[in-house]
Amino acid sequence: MARTKSSASWLSRHLSDPFVKQAQKDGYRSRSAYKLLELDEKDRLIRPGMRVMDLGSAPGGWSQVAGRLVGERGRVLATDILPMDPLRNVDFIQGDFTGEAVVQQVLDWLGGAKFDLIISDIAPNITGIDSADQGRSIHFLELALDTVRQTLKPGASFAAKMFQGSGSEQYLKELRTHFAKVLIRKPAASRKESREVYLVAKGFRG
Ligand SMILES: C[S@@+](CC[C@H](N)C(=O)[O-])C[C@H]1O[C@@H](n2cnc3c(N)ncnc32)[C@H](O)[C@@H]1O
Repeated sequence: MARTKSSASWLSRHLSDPFVKQAQKDGYRSRSAYKLLELDEKDRLIRPGMRVMDLGSAPGGWSQVAGRLVGERGRVLATDILPMDPLRNVDFIQGDFTGEAVVQQVLDWLGGAKFDLIISDIAPNITGIDSADQGRSIHFLELALDTVRQTLKPGASFAAKMFQGSGSEQYLKELRTHFAKVLIRKPAASRKESREVYLVAKGFRG
């Protein structure tokens, strides 16, 4: 199939991206791993022994980082609509996060326990229609917040990707009612031209 101009320019940008090169060197499955590493360095999110949920985890860069940092005494529960190859200290549930079945499997996995941290890098498949994409991404954040309210330990943290645009201010306001502190981060690995930022919410009120 002939390459379009935009896919060719994406490929050339991808291949010259320093984070892509670094990820290949360090053995990470995605350049996104460096976003979580920077968030963790600044905000001290992941500690040994923690029980962590990773929403929208494939191909697994964030789960690799989290699995390594929680160590053998901790556990990561990763979930994605796409398959993901196994990782050390990580369990995986494949399914659509917007459906009830995944939520039930998460609750079964927890067996009455709660998460010490929830991280979400989930992003809808882009349709190219800005308002629809923005709406879906805020919808994911709302669903993630439902999961937080159901499964996060009081006092614990939540970190999630958000696209700035329609609905994002409203969402921030809502998040601030549930957490003692909400920070907005733009890690170096997040492309400058992208409206993507990362919310780090600390001190869940429960
Ligand atoms: C930016 S990628 C995550 C990258 C990951 N953090 C990493 O470091 O490898 C976003 C993920 O969200 C997932 N996703 C999109 N819609 C979903 C849905 N309805 N349910 C579950 N996962 C979904 C995509 O399949 C994709 O793998």
